[in-house]
Amino acid sequence: MLADVLPYLACPHCGAGLSLDGQVRCARGHGFDVARQGYVNLLSGKASVSGDSVEMVAARAAFLDAGHYAPIAQAVAAAAATATGCVADLGAGTGHYLAAVLDAGPDRVGLALEIAKPALRRAARAHPRLGAVGCDAWGTLPVRAGAISVALNVFAPRNPAELGRILAPDGVLVVVVPTTGHLAELVGDLGLLSVAPDKVRRIAEQLAPEFEVSTQDVCEFGLALSHADVRSLVGMGPSAWHIGAEAVGERVAALPEPVRTTASVVVTAFRRA
Ligand SMILES: C[S@@+](CC[C@H](N)C(=O)[O-])C[C@H]1O[C@@H](n2cnc3c(N)ncnc32)[C@H](O)[C@@H]1O
Ligand SMILES: [Zn+2]
Repeated sequence: MLADVLPYLACPHCGAGLSLDGQVRCARGHGFDVARQGYVNLLSGKASVSGDSVEMVAARAAFLDAGHYAPIAQAVAAAAATATGCVADLGAGTGHYLAAVLDAGPDRVGLALEIAKPALRRAARAHPRLGAVGCDAWGTLPVRAGAISVALNVFAPRNPAELGRILAPDGVLVVVVPTTGHLAELVGDLGLLSVAPDKVRRIAEQLAPEFEVSTQDVCEFGLALSHADVRSLVGMGPSAWHIGAEAVGERVAALPEPVRTTASVVVTAFRRA
């Protein structure tokens, strides 16, 4: 709920603390409406992007709710084991991974930071101890300096300077990125966008001024998917835009069922450098 995460938030205009009385408000009088669906938009200006569409978010929710990426959620929760107080997820999507981390610790509250309204609507009801906040990963995050014990970043944009600012000195940043082997069978069969071979190394380099690697684990497992699962999997990622829904449907229909493929990601825990 929003009230639980307010102590960790800051006004996007002036940086002051926030309180809730119908509206979310700062001491200097800046006010922000709470959406009917329970999230608050703390964007300070114009968003740099609109984020995932309604269709992409629905596809992501269907795929994740079916439990296909449960091993990734477990690996994220394990990497976030030291979390106390507030856990923030940048580019949280539907709040799936953040909810898994909150489930693992009854004293934790979660902050889903997202730009896409369809994702914020779902994240707001993903967990009873989760607050969903609209903001732009490329701007100043509406979060108090040093307020966050663990930050999550799962297949999402990251802003090293801001992640460094909001994390406590002993905080942990958990980043999940796909390896080149991720869904490799589908990349070939369906013509999906492939993962650059040096993605994991480049992300460590990108975070290097602020963070250093603490632990790093490959999480790899087989998937046996229905055609509907594969359509969701394609629909939740960037490839759907490139191929087009109709062509995706045709290519998926031609595959033997169940469709077997491999999920392969690297889960890295970073500490402040
Ligand atoms: C590939 S999805 C991953 C979502 C979630 N972490 C998951 O793995 O299920 C990337 C997410 O980042 C969000 N996003 C993209 N650009 C953003 C930005 N500038 N600020 C905040 N969120 C952004 C998208 O709307 C989308 O929900
Ligand atoms: Zn203010």
